[in-house]
Amino acid sequence: MRPFITTANQKTLRAAITFVFSLVFIVAFGLQPALGKNEGVTNIFRPLSQPAQEIKETSALVLIICAVIFIIVAGLLIYSLVRFRHRAGDEATEPPQVYGSNQIELAWTVLPILIVFVLILVTSRTIADIQNRKPPRGAVQATVVGHQWWWEIRYPELGIVTANELHVPASTGERRQPAFLNLQSADVAHSFWVPQLAGKTDVIPNKENRMWIEPTIPGTYLGNCAEYCGRQHARMLIRVVVHTPEEFDRWVREQQQPALIAADAAEGRKAFLVNSCVNCHTVRGTSAEGKFGPDLTHLMNRETLAAGAAPNTPENLRLWVRDPQRIKLGCLMPNMQMTDREVDQIVAYLQTLK
Ligand code: CUA
Repeated sequence: MRPFITTANQKTLRAAITFVFSLVFIVAFGLQPALGKNEGVTNIFRPLSQPAQEIKETSALVLIICAVIFIIVAGLLIYSLVRFRHRAGDEATEPPQVYGSNQIELAWTVLPILIVFVLILVTSRTIADIQNRKPPRGAVQATVVGHQWWWEIRYPELGIVTANELHVPASTGERRQPAFLNLQSADVAHSFWVPQLAGKTDVIPNKENRMWIEPTIPGTYLGNCAEYCGRQHARMLIRVVVHTPEEFDRWVREQQQPALIAADAAEGRKAFLVNSCVNCHTVRGTSAEGKFGPDLTHLMNRETLAAGAAPNTPENLRLWVRDPQRIKLGCLMPNMQMTDREVDQIVAYLQTLK
């Protein structure tokens, strides 16, 4: 009879062992940022808000249970391969057959059922916990609308409309202020995902999904669209700016103001209002009331342009107004073929929208 460990089998065995060790290394290095400091990077292993915290705990439990099963099964497999390999002088007889052993059959039926049962209970408890949360008094309500390729953000109760940057207050011990989000889509399916705050929630046309976040640490949290939605899916970024409660109240008061009418940009204002800009954009306090594009009333308050495609600098703003397709190919804002003079005037005007 052919020896069990042929050269080919040895190669397979070596490949299997290498694979297992690589897997262990990948997992260990993947978890490294979770253990060390890694500021500014969105990391699912470092949740900084509910419900992300709760999701991480559940996933960690599931991962640990699965890792233990993997180690036991792989360990037994490797042990058997080595311990019972063919040796010179072995008789060419079959090992004892245990087919039909009630004990073994029972063990490998009952045990997995119990494990799956535990996983189901833990997961459904987390899901129910997150989905059944009711907004407490004082919760911030916002509607987030996914567009190709930007996020419209409305606060119906506060009368604020903005884009791409969701501002929320941090919850403190005495003032709990979670933000409850209604997610809608204006076109195709998107997915709202800010890894350190919450899990992904799909944004689906003709359906309203709900989610909530309750960050406690002020700062800016980065996220992105997590459902392929077309050419510029990768440049559909979202920022969540978490303020202290006092800062948030100030932000709300600022945003509720109509646009400033600065005397030094009167020409640009006129150029903006007579061009097609007004068909898509709103600047509150003027005749610009378009709804297809982002509200520009407080444009200079935002850190980025074009949903995170470029930092909001004067040069980028000029490039954007001149030819948006250079920054974000395929976006709905066309090159308006304006003269240099018009571009300069309009950019000067936009920069007054603080
Ligand atoms: Cu929106 Cu991907």
